[in-house]
Amino acid sequence: MKIVILTGAGVSAESGLGTFRDTDGLWTQYDLSEVATPEGFARNPTLVHDFYNARRSNARDAKPNAAHYALARLLQARDDVTLVTQNVDDLHERAGATGVLHMHGSLMQALCAACGTRWPAPDAMQPEHACPACAQPETRPDVVWFGEIPYHMDEIGAALEACDLFVSIGTSGEVYPAAGFVAQARAQGTRTLELNLEPSGALFDEGRYGPATRIVPEWVEGILKG
Ligand code: OAD
Repeated sequence: MKIVILTGAGVSAESGLGTFRDTDGLWTQYDLSEVATPEGFARNPTLVHDFYNARRSNARDAKPNAAHYALARLLQARDDVTLVTQNVDDLHERAGATGVLHMHGSLMQALCAACGTRWPAPDAMQPEHACPACAQPETRPDVVWFGEIPYHMDEIGAALEACDLFVSIGTSGEVYPAAGFVAQARAQGTRTLELNLEPSGALFDEGRYGPATRIVPEWVEGILKG
């Protein structure tokens, strides 16, 4: 049984990383158009770097939780599972998962806007940092902003098309194209399951609700038992 899993901020919430749209979420504290768009970066690169430097620091201090570890166990046990994440933290990897498709990029990488070179992000990325390859001072975080095309879409599309089960974990389903995966899966007859703190409102065949650290390990154990 081929499985595609999509994770969102809810999977890292119990590691202490803020979600975006919950009552105390990041988008209630920051203006998304200022810190998560190419236009915002062009207007005020220092503000945008400060925002992602703070998020990188929080992510480095955070530890993977039971949901990350359970998903890593599942990936290690089976070769027919594709893990797609909207998260820019590295908690899936630090729990032992490999091959995770980070469709919104990674906080832990710097990207040269001039030549496309990537390198490990320093703790405090600044606009004047020069690219190690082309020396242009156009360093940006390697995250996908609103208005940009998410990464790995061909690979994700192929995995979705071929899968027998689509599982959405800890995401509100507000941001496309990820928000459209469940409809695509249902349209092709793939079974769909939502694991979330509460129903997101999107149409799934089945939903299990509660904190990720409880419901994800329970679901994974069920799959591993067969
Ligand atoms: P959201 O903040 O929109 O949604 C988080 C979801 O996690 C909600 O449905 C919560 O109910 C759920 N949740 C919260 N705590 C949980 C817990 N302990 N266990 C399980 N579920 C929990 O975050 P995302 O859906 O990930 O993109 O947001 C999608 C994208 O919007 C992000 O990747 C980011 C953001 O703008 C970009 O910045 C491009």
